[in-house]
Amino acid sequence: MEKLAEERIAELARSNAELAQFGYVASHDLQEPLRAVASCVQLLQKRYSGQLDARADEFIAHSVAGIKRMETLINDLLTYSRLGTHSLPLVKTQCGEVLDIALANLAAAIAESGAVVTRDALPAVEVDATQMAQVFQNLVGNAIKFRGARTPAIHVGATKNKEGGWTLSVSDNGIGMEPQYFERIFEVFQRLHTRTEYQGTGIGLAICKKIVERHGGRMHVESRIGEGSTFRFTLPGRAL
Ligand SMILES: Nc1ncnc2c1ncn2[C@@H]1O[C@H](COP(=O)(O)OP(=O)(O)OP(=O)(O)O)[C@@H](O)[C@H]1O
Ligand SMILES: [Mg+2]
Repeated sequence: MEKLAEERIAELARSNAELAQFGYVASHDLQEPLRAVASCVQLLQKRYSGQLDARADEFIAHSVAGIKRMETLINDLLTYSRLGTHSLPLVKTQCGEVLDIALANLAAAIAESGAVVTRDALPAVEVDATQMAQVFQNLVGNAIKFRGARTPAIHVGATKNKEGGWTLSVSDNGIGMEPQYFERIFEVFQRLHTRTEYQGTGIGLAICKKIVERHGGRMHVESRIGEGSTFRFTLPGRAL
């Protein structure tokens, strides 16, 4: 019985590694031909815009927009798959300082939305500080982006959990979501809105989840539509 379980786990690890490799190779090797297409279409636009008919200008403009979008998607995929390639440099880090970095990067969005960000006393934990900053930035960024009519009120919380680690949280008073989406939003490129409603490609939460899991933690959301959301993640007492 135990042997069977071990074999399954090894099999799963192998197929996960294969999938990660596939994602990396696909996104990396797609960059080159895409660059070639992009430069041709841009040349076409530069040299011939206004010289062909209006429909041709429109086709070219659509191609340029499509290429830009594909570049963003491929870059996002590459960022996501690269997350798994380096081992984590774990350093004792003040989460409060990491949050400060994330908030500094979001300064424009905070100023523009009037968001008020409050916090508990945040712990010092052994993490990869750069990746942790990315987690806070994506979560607080989402809390600002998916705001409703109210001024965003965001709280970053920290409580010691039963396992001796920490549970950190980012709560907002934004648009919220239905329970049936609580899992799907953590998948790559899964979004609940169109790009015209809210900008983005749908990679942020997938990145957060992958980072948290690499640190030996878990991440989930609780939310009520129209009221707000709380994203929680755990960090073990001593990370991996
Ligand atoms: N705080 C939130 N409140 C309400 N909905 C949210 C919140 N955070 C995420 N979501 C929903 O989950 C989806 C996935 O979030 P994610 O951060 O992965 O993508 P994104 O913000 O749309 O794009 P990106 O992060 O790539 O810029 C969002 O499109 C949105 O529908
Ligand atoms: Mg996001």
